[in-house]
Amino acid sequence: MQIDENILNQAAEILRQSGGVVAMPTETVYGLAGNALDPESVAQIFALKGRPANDPLIVHLAHIDQVLDYASEFPEPMRILAEAFWPGPLTLLLPKKSNIPDAVTSGLPRVALRIPAHPVAHALLQKLDFPLAAPSANPFGYISPTMSAHVAKQLGDRIPLILEGGPCQVGLESTIVGYDDGQVTVYRLGGIAREQLHVKVGPVKFSAKLTHGIEEELAAAAPGMLKSHYAPRKPLYFGDIEPMFPRFNPSKVGIVSLRKIFKAIPRENQQILAIEGDMARAARNLFAALRTLDENPQIEVILAQKFPDFGLGCAINDRLQRASALK
Ligand code: TXA
Ligand code: MG
Repeated sequence: MQIDENILNQAAEILRQSGGVVAMPTETVYGLAGNALDPESVAQIFALKGRPANDPLIVHLAHIDQVLDYASEFPEPMRILAEAFWPGPLTLLLPKKSNIPDAVTSGLPRVALRIPAHPVAHALLQKLDFPLAAPSANPFGYISPTMSAHVAKQLGDRIPLILEGGPCQVGLESTIVGYDDGQVTVYRLGGIAREQLHVKVGPVKFSAKLTHGIEEELAAAAPGMLKSHYAPRKPLYFGDIEPMFPRFNPSKVGIVSLRKIFKAIPRENQQILAIEGDMARAARNLFAALRTLDENPQIEVILAQKFPDFGLGCAINDRLQRASALK
């Protein structure tokens, strides 16, 4: 991919100013990035997203050698995972050092660290002498952006620069892991599948409650208070969808499916994520498909089929489950 040095320098310049933020592509989703060591920039990120202060941010680094600049420990199993999957869609929760502002971690004792694989994110980080805090560049509660146009549509008039990086190649947020009581623990499933972690460090456990931040908890506590609930604005039903058909007018139904096309539903209202069944491709297409259905005025309800429960299918099912849980 051709990187525009001028625009990259502009982005770096904005980020060097206190309070400066830019949107940057990563291989997972687009992020809203600011200097992780500058409380003003961190405050800007929270404000622009409309994100509650108790939902912490991931800190993006250029190189694995920087981990111990910001974390006080780097346990061996976490190092093994970092060496295996960085740069890439894996975030590690490690005990934080005091140079990371408390606002970044929402006062929690650990900092979330990740080295993104996207060449533009990487080139940007290499120009800077500070790490970048970056949540997904969507308004709080909505679907994560996997194209620059998604960012432009919702935040374009409020951020000074959106770096172009093409469609995100992973398309799901990073997998988040911690190291609890001597065992690697998954907090959020994402672009690295559980099976991939297992190959490197043996069995991993899942946090009793997979955290996706507090978005859904807030939504569950006060659904009417939020414009949207973590995902599409339209009701989304998830599972075995054919038995649901009689409940809805077929011309108003939108479909998300891996490869199956449903004869009862207009073809143009069906998002088939990977007709040949490739799960990586399905993951890459998922969020854009949800946006397309959400924006289609003919569609009133979205029905999402359950995906195969292995590999990236688990993370896709997790996102669809969360998108549907409150409807
Ligand atoms: O792929 C990704 O991870 C993308 C790209 C931009 O890197 N970022 C992303 O960020 O998905 P965001 O803000 O949408 O999700 C960050 C989540 C939080 O909601 C929380 O669940 C977890 O990461 N997290 C961050 N810092 C944490 C901390 N200190 N302790 C526990 N969980 C943390
Ligand atoms: Mg997010």
